[in-house]
Amino acid sequence: MRTYIKNLKNYIGQEVTIKAWVDVCRDQGKLMFFNFRDMSGKVQGVILSNNIKALETGSRIRQEWVIEARGKVNQRPERAVQKDKQNGDIEMEILEITILNEAKTPPFDITGDGKEINEEVRLQYRYIDLRRERMQKNLRMRAMVIKFIRDFLFEKDFVEIETPILGKSTPEGARDYLVPSRLHPGKFYALPQSPQQYKQLLMVAGFEKYFQIVKCFRDEDTRGDRQPEFTQLDLEMSFTSQEEILNLTEELYLAMARKLYPNKKIKLDENGKFLRMSYKKAMEKYNSDKPDIRDDKNNPDELAFLFVVDFPMFEYKKEEKRWDAVHHPFTMPKVENVEDFWQKFKNDPSAIGAYQYDFVLNGYEIAGGSIRIHDPELLKAIFEAMGNEPKDIEKQFGHMFEAFQYGVPPHGGIAPGIDRLMMILQNEPNIREVIVFPKTGDGKDLMMNAPSEVDKKQLEKLGIKIKGIKAQS
Ligand code: AMO
Repeated sequence: MRTYIKNLKNYIGQEVTIKAWVDVCRDQGKLMFFNFRDMSGKVQGVILSNNIKALETGSRIRQEWVIEARGKVNQRPERAVQKDKQNGDIEMEILEITILNEAKTPPFDITGDGKEINEEVRLQYRYIDLRRERMQKNLRMRAMVIKFIRDFLFEKDFVEIETPILGKSTPEGARDYLVPSRLHPGKFYALPQSPQQYKQLLMVAGFEKYFQIVKCFRDEDTRGDRQPEFTQLDLEMSFTSQEEILNLTEELYLAMARKLYPNKKIKLDENGKFLRMSYKKAMEKYNSDKPDIRDDKNNPDELAFLFVVDFPMFEYKKEEKRWDAVHHPFTMPKVENVEDFWQKFKNDPSAIGAYQYDFVLNGYEIAGGSIRIHDPELLKAIFEAMGNEPKDIEKQFGHMFEAFQYGVPPHGGIAPGIDRLMMILQNEPNIREVIVFPKTGDGKDLMMNAPSEVDKKQLEKLGIKIKGIKAQS
């Protein structure tokens, strides 16, 4: 039976079998030392000089080989104890060692934090890079955070529902990734920029409290806090208010940070709440809609959460000569009804406020959300105000208008980005460090070598011909 390395201390004086990677090996002639590593931790092993067979096998073993070792767990003598190390007080005396798999010399060192290593090489050999303790911690903490979120929301009667990846374009402001249809040549699916429309349709469907931890896809330029595919906690509620959504978000993030990151200092106002600031004040005071309000910006263990509220509904797009929604067109403007909307829009579009909010942490936007329009006439008016022709609105969003004829509850929601949150919680400089297989700045997967050319036959089946286009920005 296999024993996990973290449990070895329960077997002092007994014989156990471990299965592990060789983290480090040191041949000292008569004695041979190893550090073994499995998913649960590390331990030192030693082959004594009288164990000729094990020494013979051991002498062949190199770093990152995969082994099985049977041995006795011994208490280390007092002077050899390494107090601050896992298993620093024990050692395994190897009686028998078997090589399960050999390994080429790794392309880089994995014993350190890896920050000095060329990132492209790390990404090319990501499966090796992920073996380092820092990356293991990042991904294991990410799993804990996601589990916490899930448990918290289940407790509050939310239902987790998966929505399609092959869908129709949503107006989230970025370019869509398109997927050609073989069965309908010339037609395309779009990968969701977010499940925005689906979650609103789930409110029409009567679920009332929905969430999902979901991949979103946006064809935009990649940066330190932006990836072409990223993960959102997507959440929507019926019969709700801005206040209820912000309070729920606050309760979730506060409880999560306190439980999983007890050493972090959380900035709160005099009532023990997250700070709030209007968009106008943020712009006036910080010239940013995502200000970093930490007391000490050099302190990596401070978490300064901030809700930015009272966004304007529209912003003017100079290049396109039209007014566009700051968040998205489904956001509820602060108007009485359709007539009131048109009057205010004709008067001054920039003066119309929206029930929209952003959630900011240490200067990063970690969530955005809004109360939605549930009156189809008002929704149509917003699309028109943004310069869309009625026939285009019908073509693109006809399904939403149709659905909104069948009893739609007032609703609203929010969508926190999980990658940015994890980057900040783990004190990492960019989101690639908390994403298992991220893309490079120019959107490449260096490990799988994607995007890649595809077989001509595949293209033919899809009715697609490549014209030899150059890369476009
Ligand atoms: P929004 O577009 O503001 O809202 O996105 C919500 C949050 O998702 C994260 N995010 C990203 N993270 C990594 N890489 C990206 N390319 C990226 N783009 C966005 C950010 C952001 O705050 N449907 C609405 C939400 C709603 O109204 O409920 C939406 O997607 O943390």
